[in-house]
Amino acid sequence: MVLVNGNNIWDVEGPAAATAEIEVTSMLSKLVGYDENISAGYTTWGGQGAVFNSLRLAIARYAPTSNQSGVPQNLYCFCSELSHYSLYKSVEATGIGVENMIRVKANADHSMNLEDLKEKMEHVIAQGGVPLYVLATMGATDTFGIDDIEGIKLISEELERAYGIYPLFIHADSAMGGMYSFFNSYDFGSNPLRFEDNVNEVLKSYQQKFKHIKLADSMVFDFHKLGQTPYITSLFLIKNREYLKYVDLDAEETPYVGNRGYGSYHTGYTLECSRMGSALAIYASLLAFGVDGYQELLANYIRVNIAFRETLIKEVSNVVITNEVSPITTFRFYPEKTKWNDERNGLLTVEEITEINQFNDEFAEVIGAERDIVFFGNTKKQCLLEAANSNKRISVYAHKFFTISPYSTIDEVDHYVEFLKEHLDCFLKLNELQELERSS
Ligand SMILES: Cc1ncc(COP(=O)(O)O)c(C=O)c1O
Repeated sequence: MVLVNGNNIWDVEGPAAATAEIEVTSMLSKLVGYDENISAGYTTWGGQGAVFNSLRLAIARYAPTSNQSGVPQNLYCFCSELSHYSLYKSVEATGIGVENMIRVKANADHSMNLEDLKEKMEHVIAQGGVPLYVLATMGATDTFGIDDIEGIKLISEELERAYGIYPLFIHADSAMGGMYSFFNSYDFGSNPLRFEDNVNEVLKSYQQKFKHIKLADSMVFDFHKLGQTPYITSLFLIKNREYLKYVDLDAEETPYVGNRGYGSYHTGYTLECSRMGSALAIYASLLAFGVDGYQELLANYIRVNIAFRETLIKEVSNVVITNEVSPITTFRFYPEKTKWNDERNGLLTVEEITEINQFNDEFAEVIGAERDIVFFGNTKKQCLLEAANSNKRISVYAHKFFTISPYSTIDEVDHYVEFLKEHLDCFLKLNELQELERSS
């Protein structure tokens, strides 16, 4: 407690935390493929804080005078329609404005649609706007969709060449998925940790996506999500420490902190003044688990999810799983048989989709009442779908199975599914009775 209580603003105040921060920045830089001699990092207020910090860097890098004279009014940010609301808050708070945050359509696998991104960027340029920033979600909150960051980088560079625009800032919102870059160097051929074939296959596909995360100008590691550390332990990682000069405070603005003969790690670029020593928790966990240990933990999340999916589909007929295999499983129930294919192909009306949403929402209340037994999450925007009778895309509600405890193993899965099945049977019977009462 004494160690963590050190103020991380300056190594003179919190030397252990400052040392840990430098160590973890270096370790994680190497892991993702940043040059640890050039990169920088600091712990901050969550994955959301990292988005805000990255946007602040992007603005100050593009317009170095903006710290004095305010933010230019023609800047635009781009993100997937399924991205976390962190960017929404950040464009509000930086003064860029929500109207200048452009939402890009998502593909069926919940990744950003790159054609739509390019089209929307070109539209902004044609109107005289400046595309400033792209949020590449690497593991979406509800579905674990992973944006193609390599594709985003290629499009950005293409537009930079074609229109002579300033390089776009790309932040990898890896708050949810970043830990899967721990497999970037895993040899799936020899498979030293002997993962089962189906687990191996998923992890291998992640390697193909996460190996490109180094293309981002910044990213985040939210250890409090998949990394077994307490809240808040987020490391904001920056590819090039030079960017920090745009946001660092002048020495005269920080009269009581600064370089001394007995300490020179002065973090005047963070948005916080006092900072807790949360790098210590990250450092301790990295040393305790090691890369192998984390690989075991992360693989188990996938293993349990695969088992959950298989059991759910086997045991319940009127359910559909609505995302790819990942540490999260989203699923949707239907009052009778499933209509997912029709829903996905735009064949249902707004009213029909809304009715199914309502059914799932009511069922979420039912199982939520017994969340002390098994706690399932739910979302009101799993994805957006076309409807047969509207131009507006409709949000799809879904339930979420998200298990990131090392104590949730495949042995527990039958119990989770049984819980759902029992409650669903009761819920359907109750609905039937109410229907009978209404019609009599
Ligand atoms: C993709 C993504 N980004 C950002 C955040 C915000 O992270 P935090 O709660 O650590 O601020 C979340 C939280 O769930 C997230 O899933």
